Amino acid sequence: MIKYLGSKRLLVDKITSLVGRACEQDSTILDLFSGTSRVGHALKRAGFRVLANDHNAYAHTLAGCYIQADAESVLVRAKSIIDDLNTTKPQPGFITHKYCEESRFFHPDNGARIDAIRDRIDTLDLDPDLRAVILTSLLEAADRVDSTTGVQMAYLKSWAPRAHKQMTLRVPDVLPAVPTGRCQAHQLEAIDAAKKLTGDVAYLDPPYNQHSYLGNYHLWETIVNWDRPPTYGIACKRTECQQRKSDFNSKPRIEPALRAVIQSLDVDTIVLSFSDEGYLTRDQIIHMLSARGRVAVIENDHPRYVGCKIGIHNQSGKKVGTVGKTRNKELFFVAGTGAEQLGEKKKDRQTTILA
Ligand SMILES: C[S@@+](CC[C@H](N)C(=O)[O-])C[C@H]1O[C@@H](n2cnc3c(N)ncnc32)[C@H](O)[C@@H]1O
Repeated sequence: MIKYLGSKRLLVDKITSLVGRACEQDSTILDLFSGTSRVGHALKRAGFRVLANDHNAYAHTLAGCYIQADAESVLVRAKSIIDDLNTTKPQPGFITHKYCEESRFFHPDNGARIDAIRDRIDTLDLDPDLRAVILTSLLEAADRVDSTTGVQMAYLKSWAPRAHKQMTLRVPDVLPAVPTGRCQAHQLEAIDAAKKLTGDVAYLDPPYNQHSYLGNYHLWETIVNWDRPPTYGIACKRTECQQRKSDFNSKPRIEPALRAVIQSLDVDTIVLSFSDEGYLTRDQIIHMLSARGRVAVIENDHPRYVGCKIGIHNQSGKKVGTVGKTRNKELFFVAGTGAEQLGEKKKDRQTTILA
């Protein structure tokens, strides 16, 4: 899966087991901020019916592949299309000019491969699930040869070693259907998804600070939309990054936005992930969730981003400061019926029943 800020790569097993303890095996789980879809993917693998949502087009595509598409219906065709796409003759186009020459996100050889393959995908008459699988395969292939530190606000001054490798598409890990109904991928604002979708448990993993996902992953949005948008700045971001903002990236707006989502959800249990370094305090979140019944809080200790271990350096590379905190906490809040069940089992010493 793609490199992604805030991805729950290291916590996915804990989240799956938490959800599993909070509901029955035939439950439907909503994932309203699905990002890479790795949480929904693990939940689908565990047999739950998952309804994923994210407001960005690239994340909707990833959910189309990992959540909505079922292996039985797409994998045979996907394999043959991907084998064929890997033989496509490179042809420089928008990506090469913008992101290999004007900026340096990809080596031009791979830029020309992305251009030619993305053009060819639009000539294939693919149904939405298969199209999501093929586009995901392209995004992940491009991610494996990019020249960034994992965000697209900037690119490296010298090519990353992986940028010299030839980009090759692979077949994504699409899962078989679950027995309790079709899984779904939606592209809605979180508040609209909260009003529209119903299930048993909602997993909420909103952004927790000012860093916009559209700005950090603008290239994936462009490759999925293939709209050759107007751009600005050194990173050649889509100009829409300046207008299309999320309330969850705003200190004054996140509290009312999250409160509205929590109030609108038609589920028995809410599981919410949030960092202890985010815009909302633990007490603010507990207060919002307590309207749903009991609230349990589980703390997960985390190493902080790698830069903080290296310390603070000036432009010539001299160490000019240190960063005090090298670990942060990812908090899980469980509210409603699921929290009661966790409380009754009392297995987890870190579980605090707060209300
Ligand atoms: C912390 S990330 C989720 C990471 C995900 N759980 C994973 O493991 O990959 C937050 C996600 O919320 C999405 N998002 C931000 N604002 C949103 C909004 N207003 N409505 C829906 N999705 C939003 C972003 O696109 C981003 O993918």
